[in-house]
Amino acid sequence: MNLLQRPRRNRKHPAIRAFVRETTLGPEHFIYPLFIHAGDDDEPIASMPGCARLSRKGLLAEVEAARAVGVNLVALFPAVAEALKTSDGREAWNPNGLIPETIKALKDRWPDLVIVTDVALDPYNSDGHDGIVAPDGRILNDETVEALCAQALCQAHAGADIVAPSDMMDGRVQALREALDGEGFTDASILAYTAKYASAFYGPFRDALDSAPKSGDKKTYQMDPANAREALREAELDEVEGADILMVKPAGPYLDILAALRRASNLPLAAYQVSGEYAMLKAASERGWLDEKRVVLESLLGIRRAGADVIFTYFARQAAEWLTGARK
Ligand code: PBG
Repeated sequence: MNLLQRPRRNRKHPAIRAFVRETTLGPEHFIYPLFIHAGDDDEPIASMPGCARLSRKGLLAEVEAARAVGVNLVALFPAVAEALKTSDGREAWNPNGLIPETIKALKDRWPDLVIVTDVALDPYNSDGHDGIVAPDGRILNDETVEALCAQALCQAHAGADIVAPSDMMDGRVQALREALDGEGFTDASILAYTAKYASAFYGPFRDALDSAPKSGDKKTYQMDPANAREALREAELDEVEGADILMVKPAGPYLDILAALRRASNLPLAAYQVSGEYAMLKAASERGWLDEKRVVLESLLGIRRAGADVIFTYFARQAAEWLTGARK
């Protein structure tokens, strides 16, 4: 054939492929979500093989292993005893609660570890919702935002570096910024779950924390999976309200949203490869249907290529081990 253009010439040698490569993936791109509980043993999570509700001891060991391969960002998610759950979720701002105590223990051991905390009431709320539920079943926006401010302040006092509101209430980013600044936490960052969809891919996470809604669903606050323009609107609001980082969640099925926000905003972008995405890759790999290392790294590279600067992923430690050669 008489071809002027042969794109394969740029793929012919590993050294050429190396400089033509547009996207990088390394341990510095991962935030490691970790489940914790007050018990003395690590409790495996059936729908998330390789993940567990960690005891204090288990958590310290996991963070140590992650740091050894370059993962220095962790996000904490608490499994809270049923007896501590109330309709207003007040355990969320107990200064002696599981999250503040854990932050202090981690900072004690590793002052330079970056800790991300979840701002939402679902682990603490007896109704299993991210917000306060009215007797008629409505999720109360403004009352919830007030509670979220108390929660974020409690986390900042304990030493959280980045607070990450995952609740999807209106106006919470500005309210959190003002509350944090009002108490002198001008350095505490806000990573906003900007476009968080009402997704069935959160199933295993809710098993992990035993936090599924007792009634109803989350569709009056989380976004409709059918909508893209609405994500741009949420991004504009989070920007003017003072967010430092925007996030799209889930990641894999929403790469178009990530790419759209990349074009629309100059803020750094995060993406959350959620529990259901993790479970799918694990299950198929366990059956020998997929090559785990290759599909996991490809899934993460795809999220980076779509526009994410940083990725919340349960594969953080494992992927960093592969990328650094610590694991075959
Ligand atoms: C709740 C929260 C959820 C996740 C992170 N924070 C679940 C939900 O909204 O129901 C999901 C994470 C995952 O599935 O990995 N505030």
